[in-house]
Amino acid sequence: MADEPAGSGVTDLRSDTVTAPTPGMRAAMAEAVVGDDVYGEDPTVNALQERVAAMFGHEAALFTPTGSMANQIALQLVAPRASELLCDADAHVVTYEIGAAAAIGGISTRTWAAAGAGIDPDAIAAMIRPDGYHAVPTTAIAVEQTHNRGGGGVIPLGTLRRLREICDANGLRLHCDGARVWHAHVAAGVPLIEYGRLFDTLSVCLSKGLGAPVGSLVVGSAKRIDEARVLRKRMGGGMRQAGVLAAAGLYALDHHVDRLAEDHAKAARLAEALAPFGIVAGADSDTVGTSSAVRTNIVALDLGKASMDAPTLGARARERGVLVSVLGPRGARLVTHLDASDEAVDRAAEVLVSLFR
Ligand SMILES: Cc1ncc(COP(=O)(O)O)c(C=O)c1O
Repeated sequence: MADEPAGSGVTDLRSDTVTAPTPGMRAAMAEAVVGDDVYGEDPTVNALQERVAAMFGHEAALFTPTGSMANQIALQLVAPRASELLCDADAHVVTYEIGAAAAIGGISTRTWAAAGAGIDPDAIAAMIRPDGYHAVPTTAIAVEQTHNRGGGGVIPLGTLRRLREICDANGLRLHCDGARVWHAHVAAGVPLIEYGRLFDTLSVCLSKGLGAPVGSLVVGSAKRIDEARVLRKRMGGGMRQAGVLAAAGLYALDHHVDRLAEDHAKAARLAEALAPFGIVAGADSDTVGTSSAVRTNIVALDLGKASMDAPTLGARARERGVLVSVLGPRGARLVTHLDASDEAVDRAAEVLVSLFR
């Protein structure tokens, strides 16, 4: 799908990755002190890595160009070749990373039925296969916080703690795809360090909602991150004067984390407007048709009972200047972010309501 030119009056709600760096961020990038990061000599990259590691209470972190690379490096750290990773059927690591766990990591994946953030640790525990001669041994579990396909859902802290216990009891490692862990932190009021201490590895993104143009990090122990540096180089992710990008990340951490609450409020308003049409997905039996399923900046739409399918919605909304992610015949998604103002989101809500009325 072609991108709309900036300033065209179009409201792009396809993803929170569509943001352009703000003037302040661009200034920080222009002024960044840089060095060759493949030699480990970029002071701005090093500062970002140290800062993010500390935020999550881990020893070290490694800057990567993308969240997919951060995830796949982390999976290789926690799941040796020919061992098994458990994750959910909608997880980004098995849905949108083009088979990388198998193709690059030699990792076998087995999934539990997609449930977004509503995971059942004991059902996951029942899937664990012991090391043995006959079966592929389970070595790691991955979860996604917040859950992208799961409508930006936040996995409760208690659920994560239980999963940690299960991993410890079974000698497994636990990875968090934390592309939007910032959103969970802001929505649930859980300190990042609380999340950090539950996982062996995390991947976190600066380019989803935080507004940086590029950049993610793998977070973990010093030993694992030393290994991650080798894996990143092998995957072609060693960058040189990457401080210009890391500077955008540092700026994002200073200026764009707390403000995520504004994006959550915009998503809640969108969901509120669309709730009467029964198309806001992820609601449980008590919340069907209401907006209370929407906790963060993603509004998942289930058009199963709606008057139009998702491609039609996408086309009609586009004609009226609103870009929507079409995820299948009946699935669609709206995502709020830094570059969609309150006014633009409220106008978009009016447009979408007019299409369903
Ligand atoms: C949950 C989640 N994880 C990982 C990624 C991958 O990030 P990237 O596009 O930088 O590879 C995304 C991208 O949107 C995502 O939503």
